[in-house]
Amino acid sequence: MKNLGSYPAVRLRRNRKTEWSRRLISENNLSVNDLIWPLFLTEGKNIKIPIKNMPGVYKYSLDKIEKIIEKAISKKIPMVALFPNTPISKKNLRGSEALSKNNLVCKALKLIKKNYNEIGLMADVALDPYTSHGHDGILKKNYVDNDETIKILIKQSLLQAEMGCDVIAPSDMMDGRIGEIRKALDKNGFKLVQILSYAVKYASNFYGPFRDAVGSKNLLKSNKKNYQMDFRNAKEALREVALDISEGADFVMVKPGMPYLDIIKLIKDNFKIPVFAYQVSGEYSLIKNGINNKIINENAIYESLISFKRAGANAIVTYFADQISNKLK
Ligand code: PBG
Repeated sequence: MKNLGSYPAVRLRRNRKTEWSRRLISENNLSVNDLIWPLFLTEGKNIKIPIKNMPGVYKYSLDKIEKIIEKAISKKIPMVALFPNTPISKKNLRGSEALSKNNLVCKALKLIKKNYNEIGLMADVALDPYTSHGHDGILKKNYVDNDETIKILIKQSLLQAEMGCDVIAPSDMMDGRIGEIRKALDKNGFKLVQILSYAVKYASNFYGPFRDAVGSKNLLKSNKKNYQMDFRNAKEALREVALDISEGADFVMVKPGMPYLDIIKLIKDNFKIPVFAYQVSGEYSLIKNGINNKIINENAIYESLISFKRAGANAIVTYFADQISNKLK
């Protein structure tokens, strides 16, 4: 950068003096178009249960879900992501509930798709909400079997697409799944179903409240470090994204959010594909509890979301979607 001039002719505070001027020079903005709202589903009727450590976030029974969808549509939130709290009695070693037409996600997709077309429906393709050991795939000698698991994920993808899922989101960080799922979708008449790859998902310590919400926290033995990415790595993320693009991903996700803004930027600088960020449960919990305890103020929510836009994210999966959309014009 040359010819920046110098003080006193140059005073950068001049442009910051008034609110209208600050608005004129703002480099990034947040709109409701940037939001993806994650929703937790549970069995039963007339149920709205708070999620532990996530004040303001609930799991809903299906009879309550239409109201939430109507709210999302009226706010013009483009997409919701559905996550099931599978009852423990339906979990097993192979996660077979994932392939049941009557599982929570399938029932919700069908119910919502029947009545509402103006909102995108996204669902994870992974086995962790369904396995009795809390891992994302099937275990062979305590190691998640990559290729055996893909066979199940293909079936799960086709089932979810059939039920009306618009965006299939493979979220387990295993190898080769985007290509296999794309092939299967194309062969079965789902050429236009989109794939959002959780291409860069770290073995993070920020997922705790989510695992509680889907009931896998206490089941999970050891950790997910032999499939999710090592948080010491950045360049490896480029390989992950390059592969998923070549396999047919429509968008890629970086997850968690705020500790990984450098990764979002790195991907944006190297590829043309839309990049989404996932501000995960632990991040929500820290910010929300910080606000509730008056440690930080409520504007920290907006600031945290703008940071994703500044890094280059196209959209953000956030548990703040409902709350922040009230503030956005
Ligand atoms: C499952 C999945 C996880 C999250 C989204 N999908 C947890 C995990 O990988 O253990 C976490 C989301 C959050 O913490 O908000 N594969």
